[in-house]
Amino acid sequence: MAAPQQLPPAPVIEGATHVHSGKVRDLYRLASGDLLMVASDRISAYDFVLETPIPDKGEILTRMSLWWFDRLADLVPNHIVSAAVPAEVRGRAVVCRALEMFPVECVARGYLTGSGLLDYHETGEVCGIPLPDGLLDGSRLPAPIFTPAAKAAFGDHDENISFETVVATVGAGPAGTLRDLTLAVYGRAEEVARARGIILADTKLEFGLAPDGTVVLADEVLTPDSSRFWPADQWQPGRSQPSFDKQVVRNWLTSAESGWDRASGEPPPPLPDHVVELTRARYVEAYERLTGKTW
Ligand SMILES: Nc1ncnc2c1ncn2[C@@H]1O[C@H](COP(=O)(O)OP(=O)(O)OP(=O)(O)O)[C@@H](O)[C@H]1O
Ligand SMILES: [Mg+2]
Repeated sequence: MAAPQQLPPAPVIEGATHVHSGKVRDLYRLASGDLLMVASDRISAYDFVLETPIPDKGEILTRMSLWWFDRLADLVPNHIVSAAVPAEVRGRAVVCRALEMFPVECVARGYLTGSGLLDYHETGEVCGIPLPDGLLDGSRLPAPIFTPAAKAAFGDHDENISFETVVATVGAGPAGTLRDLTLAVYGRAEEVARARGIILADTKLEFGLAPDGTVVLADEVLTPDSSRFWPADQWQPGRSQPSFDKQVVRNWLTSAESGWDRASGEPPPPLPDHVVELTRARYVEAYERLTGKTW
């Protein structure tokens, strides 16, 4: 495991108390009791937060997430209170209800890749779900599956867990609700994306419990940081797929040009301008293709 990294200090926002910073987002509590979730332009790769930000990333992901919440509103209530936020974080922050979060990363997969593929190669299963023989990197699954994960400590990988472990953690009733809602959201989003020429290979959702006992969709949803989006016209199982996310960054970091040795445990070097520009363009393209709006 890599040594814990120093994040830049969270900006001071008047009227808001900083409570948490993740790799990419800063969380504040407001006087109302609601939370202010601020998406920075930070980008992470290989479990490191890179020192070079991607301009507009926080705003692109925030807008995309809000767009999706609207398209899911009839399936599941969400935590958004308002996008009216302090001027210094306008566009890249939302006010949301403070929920008691379920300690489960709710992942749905319609295609096999990433940690799912690794587990499949080792066991023929993902999260205890047996899959047919002969699947390749990028293969479409016979049906979407719920593949929950336990959230890892900062700088570590999340760990795939079985549905039984979710039951043991949150109880049978809530576990079933998390699974059903996750698959319902994936199903809707996959359809919406497909109509726009994008494959939603998988996605990670987080849910919380409202004081009245309702299960509410929280965090950010269906962004390139939480999901794999692939251009449908280039999909070809049996190799890693081109994708609308930090692939440009990952490719550069692992190329000779970066001079970075992933095995060294050292943080990656700063990104050159052309990598920053290409990555930003990738996020903008995903936003524009999905929403049909111009950035
Ligand atoms: N409505 C909500 N109420 C309470 N907590 C929330 C709500 N929505 C999201 N969260 C939590 O806010 C945090 C968002 O921060 P972020 O994702 O940046 O950090 P992280 O998940 O701790 O770390 P990382 O994603 O970098 O591994 C998460 O811990 C998430 O569970
Ligand atoms: Mg997170």
